Order: sequence, then structure tokens, then C-alpha cells
Amino acid sequence: MTNEELAKHIRVNPSILSADFGYIADEVKRLEDAGADEIHIDIMDGHFVPNLTMGPKMCAAINSATDLFLDVHIMAYNPFDYIERFVQSGADRITFHLEATEDVEDTLNFIRKCNIEAGLAICPETSETLVTKYLDKCDLLLLMTVHPGFGGQEFIPDVLEKVSMMRSICDKINLRKGGKTGEGLPPFDIQVDGGINKETAKRCFDAGANVFVAGSSIFAAPTLKEGIDNLKEASRG
Ligand code: DX5
Ligand code: ZN
Repeated sequence: MTNEELAKHIRVNPSILSADFGYIADEVKRLEDAGADEIHIDIMDGHFVPNLTMGPKMCAAINSATDLFLDVHIMAYNPFDYIERFVQSGADRITFHLEATEDVEDTLNFIRKCNIEAGLAICPETSETLVTKYLDKCDLLLLMTVHPGFGGQEFIPDVLEKVSMMRSICDKINLRKGGKTGEGLPPFDIQVDGGINKETAKRCFDAGANVFVAGSSIFAAPTLKEGIDNLKEASRG
């Protein structure tokens, strides 16, 4: 996969965790107007990660406020148990953690059976070799670039090596979007999440990532559009 080809498939998914929860519908609309590709929704259970955020009801409220694709990132043990509720609440993709379940394959299969995309995530310290056998069974691989749990943390550069390793595996077996093989299809989606800003997005893109999640850098930018555009330009010198 050349960088030129990958650049055509960059997506920027603002994390709603950094928004003002008192005005969630307005915040989602503002992100949509600013050019967000998808809305990233962080679900935390207070066990798998030491923080609590939101549940299906908030996901449904976000869904009513936008037609954008909803990218639900579940940081909870036993993600299987929550799939149906998030599907009913408008999730278009559910990404869960490999570390949070013993039934990775069943969980991926069930998400896809619900006619939405399935994503698989790993924490920075988890070996990427554990996910290779699932690559053709998922629609996206999320390589966490911080320890999950909170927005506003610093990017962990060691993960860059994992990103490039996973992109080269995809290239070697010609794995493309949706875990399909074949020339001419869009790239397999490799997402990074945590500490992503203009500079780290570029480093992640150069390593092979094409889907960028960001909360702090987008909401701290002078305008949301500027924050999003900074990341969309990750492929530029
Ligand atoms: C962290 C979450 C992230 C978080 C990113 O556990 O998964 O999606 O909101 O926030 P920033 O961009 O502030 O690191
Ligand atoms: Zn996230």
C-alpha cells in the first residue's frame, strides 16, 4: 500500500468524550459541520479501565443528532453483553478490546451478524501478534496510543512500530477493507486513538495508520474545523 493510496483513505473521528456533555446534540452537529468523518464514542465500565463514561442512552442521543457513522469504542469486560444494546442505539461499528474477553471470535462474529462493522482493539502493552489471526474477521484494528481510560494523555511512541508491523502484514497478505483480500479494494482500516494531534497523526500515518481518533487536539484547536483539518493533512510533508 503506497502512502499516496493510503492518503486517499484518511478519516478523522473526533472523540465525543472531549465535548460538553450538557449540549451533546449541539456538539455533535458542530463536529459534523466541521467535517468529522465519524463520531467516536468511548464507553468505559470502571473495571476494564478506571473511569466511567456513558452508555447506550447517550449513544442513542448522539444518533438522533447526526447521520454520521457512529464509531463505538467499548472499554469494558464482556463486551459481548452490550452489543445488542449499542446496535439498537445506532452504533455503526463496535470496537472492543482483545484483553477484555475470552471470546474474541464469537464477539467479532456476533457484531457482524448484527450488520455493523466489527473492530478489534489492543492496549499499548499488548503484543500485536495476538491479533493477526483475527484480521480477516474484523473491519478495523485499533492500536491504542495511550493506556485507555482518559482523554488528554500523552502519545506513546512505541506503538508506531506496531502500526508499521500491522500495515506490512496487511500488505503482505493483501488484506484490504473489511478483512477482504484483493487488489483495488480500499486499505484495511488501522485506527490510532490517544494523544493524536497534528504531529503524532503524521507519524502514525507514515507508519501505516489511516483512521485518527482525537479528542483534546480537536476541541482545543481555535476552531473544530481547524482541529479536524490538521489531522486530515497527516499525509502531507
Ligand atoms: C482514551 C479514549 C480516547 C480519548 C482520546 O481511553 O479511548 O478515545 O477520548 O482523547 P485524546 O485525543 O484527548 O487523547
Ligand atoms: Zn477511544
